[in-house]
Amino acid sequence: MKVLVTGAAGFIGMHITKYLLSRGDTVVGIDNLWGDGEILTLKTARLAELGIPDAAEMLEEKWRDDNLSALPSRFRSTFRFYLCDIADRMALPEIFRRERFEAVVNLAARAGVRASAEDPQAYVDSNISGLVNLLECCRDFKVTNVVYASSSSVYGDAGDRPLREADAATCDPVSIYAATKRADEMLARCYSQMYGIRATGLRFFTVYGPWGRPDMAPMLFARAIYNDRPIKVFNHGDLKRDFTFVDDIVEGTVRLLDTPAEADKCDGGIPHRVFNIGCCNPVMLGEFISLLEKNLGKKAQKEMLPMQPGDVHHTWADTSALQALTGFKPGVLLPEGIRRFAEWFLSEKNPLK
Ligand SMILES: NC(=O)c1ccc[n+]([C@@H]2O[C@H](COP(=O)([O-])OP(=O)(O)OC[C@H]3O[C@@H](n4cnc5c(N)ncnc54)[C@H](O)[C@@H]3O)[C@@H](O)[C@H]2O)c1
Repeated sequence: MKVLVTGAAGFIGMHITKYLLSRGDTVVGIDNLWGDGEILTLKTARLAELGIPDAAEMLEEKWRDDNLSALPSRFRSTFRFYLCDIADRMALPEIFRRERFEAVVNLAARAGVRASAEDPQAYVDSNISGLVNLLECCRDFKVTNVVYASSSSVYGDAGDRPLREADAATCDPVSIYAATKRADEMLARCYSQMYGIRATGLRFFTVYGPWGRPDMAPMLFARAIYNDRPIKVFNHGDLKRDFTFVDDIVEGTVRLLDTPAEADKCDGGIPHRVFNIGCCNPVMLGEFISLLEKNLGKKAQKEMLPMQPGDVHHTWADTSALQALTGFKPGVLLPEGIRRFAEWFLSEKNPLK
């Protein structure tokens, strides 16, 4: 299968690209590589891991001017990468015209709750305008198998209980980021209804693992602990998260990609559906910090702080729908996942200690 993976330089995008390549799919990755400093360092290192060592050069003016040349992977003839913004209404259709995809995995987005309050427009541009541009391309170029990242944040601060997909109907997002993801689900459903695009929204729950995002707790905390700096513990540690190891996210996503939505099995006969992908095993923040301390061999200095606006107290996935359709239940528990994360963190591969 020939698959477009957007956000391929991102944390989850890199892992999904690797997995699809390893099983023999052809993958075209795109990413706008937004950001600088360590955010960009990590993105270019992830691309190097996929066989694209020169991505940083693409950011130079010359590339920007005639930016539609793809960089081929040095490891695999079945992977190439375009520097492209999914909201670009000239470039994205041109890539679709050239490449003729059979399926799309949309992971490109501004991610993260806290930063969405600082730069809401960037979230709307990437997460809403970008998704609409992508769906327009799918419509024009007749790509009818689309999976796209939503988020557990669409459930808002719903309480300490396992959440089923239908619960979102009675929950309100409490951050700009969450609102963009809920809007994505509604827009994708409209495209499914109007144009028959078979689309699946993926509500990921707090993803962690090797090559993780530098703005998320596992990387933030690991780097602070490793460098003897204090960590910020919000809501005085009274937070629970359904931490999900990235390999489980990849497996769940690819199984759903392989089982496209069918109108007669979806609500209202519209070939759109959403699934939770989470570990179903929420853990208190303190336990998570203890596991990091154990695996990094150092004690954390904790700075206790109040709750942050836009944050939620608990996340907890019910994944029975995913299991019923695909037979897959995420199974990497936190002690094993943190062990694997810490092993990577301490290794030479990690560019951001
Ligand atoms: N990591 C998590 O815990 C988590 C949880 C829920 C949902 N998600 C969603 O999963 C997806 C992947 O998340 P991630 O953690 O890998 O984030 P990430 O930031 O590591 O990856 C996203 C990638 O998309 C790229 N991007 C952003 N806007 C773009 C645009 N307009 N055009 C092209 N590329 C663009 C970024 O440069 C980045 O490389 C996102 O949609 C995110 O909202 C992630």
